[in-house]
Amino acid sequence: ALRGDFAPRLLAWQRREGRHDLPWQNTRDPYRVWLSEIMLQQTQVTTVLGYYKRFLERFPDVAALAAAPNDEVMAAWAGLGYYSRARNLHKCAQAVVERHGGAFPRSAAELAELPGIGRSTAAAIASFCFGERVAILDGNVKRVLGRLLAFDGDLSSAAQEKRLWRRAEALLPSSPEDMPAYTQGLMDLGASLCATRSPQCLLCPVAALCTGLAEGEPTRYPVKTKK
Ligand code: ADE
Repeated sequence: ALRGDFAPRLLAWQRREGRHDLPWQNTRDPYRVWLSEIMLQQTQVTTVLGYYKRFLERFPDVAALAAAPNDEVMAAWAGLGYYSRARNLHKCAQAVVERHGGAFPRSAAELAELPGIGRSTAAAIASFCFGERVAILDGNVKRVLGRLLAFDGDLSSAAQEKRLWRRAEALLPSSPEDMPAYTQGLMDLGASLCATRSPQCLLCPVAALCTGLAEGEPTRYPVKTKK
């Protein structure tokens, strides 16, 4: 019963306190959502905002991006860093045109086969755009769920990471319509109250369900030995 309360509580909090007006929200265009997720992987929201707007002006859709010369794509990315993201971005746009006739595939499994799209990014796109019931598990979400579940497996281990993916899947809301707000809620909680150093558990919508907090030391999760 407790675990079943997680999604409804997170959803109510996201709708009340979460972010709703970022430029890549309020769209179900997978091109726009994909571009934002790649830019946001290693770059702060405030920095991404300006790049995102200029990038979409120069490359308004996946066909325009695929057809552009690589040096123009790299020039539009210049300053964002981690340039393998930009090379993969261009390769991915070309793969969408060549393998999928210019339309992004609509399932996380197919999205994850494209260049530069990992499992969590594929799930973010599929949940935001198509309401697919799939779990995300980026660095922030590993922290949120690691604490919630007092997950003591070592996430340097692939087997333990797989175990956490399965537990993340067990927490999903039952309705596909709730998936965009649910996925955003996990991201918003990880970016705000469930901070690495000083989580604000008194304000947390799922504090009553959090095993890490109940144990008195939420910040010892998630466990990571290597890296
Ligand atoms: N970081 C990654 N995805 C994000 C999103 N959709 N909104 C805000 N920050 C993010």
